Amino acid sequence: MAEVNLLARLPKSQRNIAKRTAAQTPETIAIARQYGEAYFDGPREVGYGGYRYDGRWIPVAEDIVRHFHLKPGDRVLDVGCAKGFLVRDLMDVCPGLEAFGLDISGYALAHCEPRVAGRLIRGSADRLPFPDKSFSAVLCINTIHNFERPDAVRAVREVERLAPGQGFIQVDSYRTPEQREIFLSWVLTAKFHDYPDGWVALFREAGFTGDWYWTILE
Ligand SMILES: C[S@@+](CC[C@H](N)C(=O)[O-])C[C@H]1O[C@@H](n2cnc3c(N)ncnc32)[C@H](O)[C@@H]1O
Repeated sequence: MAEVNLLARLPKSQRNIAKRTAAQTPETIAIARQYGEAYFDGPREVGYGGYRYDGRWIPVAEDIVRHFHLKPGDRVLDVGCAKGFLVRDLMDVCPGLEAFGLDISGYALAHCEPRVAGRLIRGSADRLPFPDKSFSAVLCINTIHNFERPDAVRAVREVERLAPGQGFIQVDSYRTPEQREIFLSWVLTAKFHDYPDGWVALFREAGFTGDWYWTILE
């Protein structure tokens, strides 16, 4: 169990915090939580503001393959895969790797990377429809904070169940009160969030033995 920044080489997104804060209403939050067209490809105020493949996950995929010593024939699952960009890049940087994705969004799956069509399934991270120990590695990036805490614990258990000791979870967090304020003025979908110590306590409660890192806005 260790803190490992596997997204270190992901380019930083542009964020207009003031504009998002002004748009944070119960209505925009409800729209974002539908994970539909508005969230992925609508205005920035309710989500990504256009979620298109641009290759930014390639260095991350390289670091994941290296970190987990993945090789052709190994199976890896990306939970909360959205349109499958990381699934595509994992297969590109490690030809022969069997990469799959799962997401709750019918919209994202219907508009997925054409190259990964057939490798993505619809489902919820707290009930993964796969047998125990069925993957060499399971990734869950920026997804588990979208649950209330009890369901987040179940989702972490699911990652551990499919790939004991070979999971990677990244979640929204903050190290200082100032970072927490910035986070609160940006967040739309997250239902549970905490300082790193609180998250680590949750991971331990779930019996998680994999690795983790934080998405922190600064
Ligand atoms: C912030 S996006 C992260 C996408 C991608 N992993 C990344 O880091 O760019 C959150 C993703 O989690 C998905 N999601 C939300 N709740 C989920 C759930 N209960 N089970 C599976 N996926 C979920 C959303 O549809 C969305 O694709």
